[in-house]
Amino acid sequence: MSGRHPALLRAQAFASRFGLQIPVLMAPMAGASPVALAKAVAQAGGMGALGALLMEPAAFEAWVTRYRAEGGGPLQINLWVPDPPPRRDAAHETALRDFLGRHGPSVPADAGDAPLQDFHAQCQALLAVRPTAVSSIMGLLPPAFVAQLKAAGIAWFATVTTVAEARAAEAAGADVIVAQGAEAGGHRGAFEAEVARDQAVGLFALLPQVVDAVQVPVVATGGVADARGVAAALLLGASAVQPGTALLRTPEAALNPAWAQGLVAATPEGTRLTRAFSGRWGRALATAYVQAAAAPGAPEPAPYPVQRGLTAAMRETAAAAHDLQHLQAWAGQAAALAPALPAGEVVRGLWAGACELLG
Ligand SMILES: Cc1cc2nc3c(=O)[nH]c(=O)nc-3n(C[C@H](O)[C@H](O)[C@H](O)COP(=O)(O)O)c2cc1C
Repeated sequence: MSGRHPALLRAQAFASRFGLQIPVLMAPMAGASPVALAKAVAQAGGMGALGALLMEPAAFEAWVTRYRAEGGGPLQINLWVPDPPPRRDAAHETALRDFLGRHGPSVPADAGDAPLQDFHAQCQALLAVRPTAVSSIMGLLPPAFVAQLKAAGIAWFATVTTVAEARAAEAAGADVIVAQGAEAGGHRGAFEAEVARDQAVGLFALLPQVVDAVQVPVVATGGVADARGVAAALLLGASAVQPGTALLRTPEAALNPAWAQGLVAATPEGTRLTRAFSGRWGRALATAYVQAAAAPGAPEPAPYPVQRGLTAAMRETAAAAHDLQHLQAWAGQAAALAPALPAGEVVRGLWAGACELLG
């Protein structure tokens, strides 16, 4: 690893601290973190990741066992900090079920009762599998769990979307701050669901101000998809980068082909923040369904996770039919830069290119 430029030295220090050769972290992506992808990133010298939101403990324990058996290296496992319980509105949910029934199969009456995983049980299981890092999104980890992580020598990577959230995460004991710019694909990690769209800050403004606000290392995520992005993030003060969408066209990601094709054709403005899939703001391709859900007269999406339950039938049917217009096609604003190359090559290329640019 070259160490001439101060930004490269900083990245090198971060990499050594976490047992990496390359300061590139796979972004944790719930529903899009196959073992093959995480393993390829780690074997290239970066850090693998698992987005464990939707998994019960036995499922992610099995995932980790396979990852390790196949030679995976340093690993981040990610959990969502639960929001307060959603407010239910039966009449509004009926209107939503009618609306969604026009975009997919009819929606069962109990579809909004989507169960969440038991967060406490997930946390305890994470301690048992001992990843390199536990990462959080949508809020702060409970203090008792943070103490258990520290006692176990597991780092806490806290995802933030504002400077205030970064300060709060550092004060709560985060070892690393993951600054998520508004360009990012997938859900925005705002601690409060209601402000996630209004407080959408781009990475170029967010990153240096987070770096100035905290003492701990900062990882840049959101729109980082080629070597120029990696070099820029390091110059703005990041210690590492965490690409998500940039890895989705790799063969290891094994993405639904309709979604992968949608990424190739995406323009930055062809993605939009939407609550239409889950009830939480996230960035997706502006497909027919996403646009219809934002059109005047369309019913407001229900809160998370009710909306996720209501849209399950449509999402699953569309995924099986390779129907891009109705499947859940998360995408960052740099989607079109995502290369269709093996993940190891992508990771090595990002780093080699950034080193060259930074001399
Ligand atoms: C398909 C998908 C699923 C995601 N799921 C999660 C998740 O479960 N937890 C999380 O912290 N971030 C999640 N994210 C956000 C990523 O971790 C990361 O912040 C984002 O991908 C970075 O922006 P980029 O896509 O432009 O690289 C997801 C992103 C995508 C694209």
